[in-house]
Amino acid sequence: MLRSEQWFSGRTDLAFQHRSALRSMGIDPQFYAGRPVIGIANSWSELNNCNRNLKDVAESVRRGVLAAGGLPLEFSTISLGEEFMKPSAMLYRNLMAMDVEETLRSNPVDGVVLLCNCDKTTPAQLMAAASADLPAIQINGGPRAVSRWRGEAVGSGTDIWRYWDEVRAGKITLDEWDELEACIACSAGACNTMGTASTMTGLSEALGMMLPGTSSIPATDARRLASAEAAGRRIVQMVEQDLRPSKILTPHAFDNAIRTLLALGGSTNAVVHLIAIAGRLNYTLPLSRFDELSRTTPFLVNLAPSGKLLMDAFHGAGGIPAVMNELRDLLHLDSLTVTGSTVGQHLDKARCYDREVIRERSKPLGEAGALAIVQGNLAPHGAVIKASAASKHLMQHRGRAVVFENYADMLARVNDPALPVDEHSVLVLKQAGPKGVPGFPEWGMIPVPTKLLERGITDVVRISDSRMSGTSFGTVVLHVSPEAAAGGTLALVENGDEIELDVPARRIHLHVADDVLAKRRAAWKPPTTAHLRGYPRLYIDHVLQAHEGCDFDFLRPRTDEELKFVPPVVGRS
Ligand code: FES
Repeated sequence: MLRSEQWFSGRTDLAFQHRSALRSMGIDPQFYAGRPVIGIANSWSELNNCNRNLKDVAESVRRGVLAAGGLPLEFSTISLGEEFMKPSAMLYRNLMAMDVEETLRSNPVDGVVLLCNCDKTTPAQLMAAASADLPAIQINGGPRAVSRWRGEAVGSGTDIWRYWDEVRAGKITLDEWDELEACIACSAGACNTMGTASTMTGLSEALGMMLPGTSSIPATDARRLASAEAAGRRIVQMVEQDLRPSKILTPHAFDNAIRTLLALGGSTNAVVHLIAIAGRLNYTLPLSRFDELSRTTPFLVNLAPSGKLLMDAFHGAGGIPAVMNELRDLLHLDSLTVTGSTVGQHLDKARCYDREVIRERSKPLGEAGALAIVQGNLAPHGAVIKASAASKHLMQHRGRAVVFENYADMLARVNDPALPVDEHSVLVLKQAGPKGVPGFPEWGMIPVPTKLLERGITDVVRISDSRMSGTSFGTVVLHVSPEAAAGGTLALVENGDEIELDVPARRIHLHVADDVLAKRRAAWKPPTTAHLRGYPRLYIDHVLQAHEGCDFDFLRPRTDEELKFVPPVVGRS
């Protein structure tokens, strides 16, 4: 029996009411009787430019659902756009996950097609799908077209940061900078670098939640719409086969996704999101698992910001299947995907068409360790560094701290000519973690002080409890846990303290004696917050730390009973 029949079947006054609601939309329930109701969760919004093409994608999904014999019912959800949302779209990831989960739970939906694109929309929908556990397939809007500026391809995000440093160093003029602004985002779609959006949609594919080979199709390519139609057809079959996320999102699937992330040199944000999605299924995914797999997974994909090329080249080279095929012997090939076939069966058909973009295992861009987890007294629960986008000469470094107490302090002083900073300094930013702002913004790529840029120094070690954009780069230690606002050691760092970063040894250490730290801790006072009410208050009170995925504590099931609980459908609204 279809779940939706609990709403629509029978000759009761309640079923009458539900069917009459369908009729009010011009839908004849008799024609659709016995057909699965497919929700189309659309995160289209004009407040989210990256998801602008999802109306077209939704139309294609609708066509596919109808062709396969289902009834498509589209609904809008909140949308999380990285560009406009302040202080951070991450603040609202859990809210979107709740929105999607509860909409699915409370409505006559048998299966759902999830339409995502910009960074946080993908993990939010996957968290919701994992919790609701109705048959679900995800489709994205794709990366935006690549434009050229002065003869060179420009990549979203990465080239903004790069050229802004050139403006500050006096190498390009503000008029040239304006020219770049007009062309860097030249179509609908997500960032065309291997930023968080492309990383997360690629990992959705690697997890088995998207049709193979589809995540990297450009937003403007007609195959994007054809794949959306295919997703619409497939979800109807998934309902018939009762193929739910709990059968796809297994611990083995998460290992496959982590390996793919590492080969991609993908976004550090994926670490937080994968932990959060796994948490919804009551799997604990420790940071140590990322580090363990990192040590044996080569870095293969030459895409900005870790490499040079952009998403159009990646898709032409074979996309995610081509990367996973290179990792074949490291993957769990028996993991199930939304197609009903296994990862291994799909990889039999995968090919790489451009070795400049996706390297062979025997000629990797880096042997292993694209992401590393460092630990020590400064980050007892760990911190993350994207070694593939960092400077080799800073991988082992000891220097004196230049401390910014919060983001406003950093903005006010980082370019002050009087700032006591040199190339050996370690820049430290506090109060930028999950609870600290609140919302765990992408402030971790602290700008290199202008006075260093003018001397040709483009990278220094930077440490914070913040995140950074997937399009960013540099020797940046992120997600320090526990964060400063939760009383982590980071809160106790003072100007001039010596900090040692040793990525090969996976160590981060504050060279301050324990008794001195104990005195500082005794004097430390938790920061006050202006957020006394509303969603930010809920967030501060319930968000978990970075190493736990930053979900809300009450959204993670604590037992198998909680995991499997399905609310009954009874009575009137
Ligand atoms: Fe939306 Fe990059 S800002 S995908």
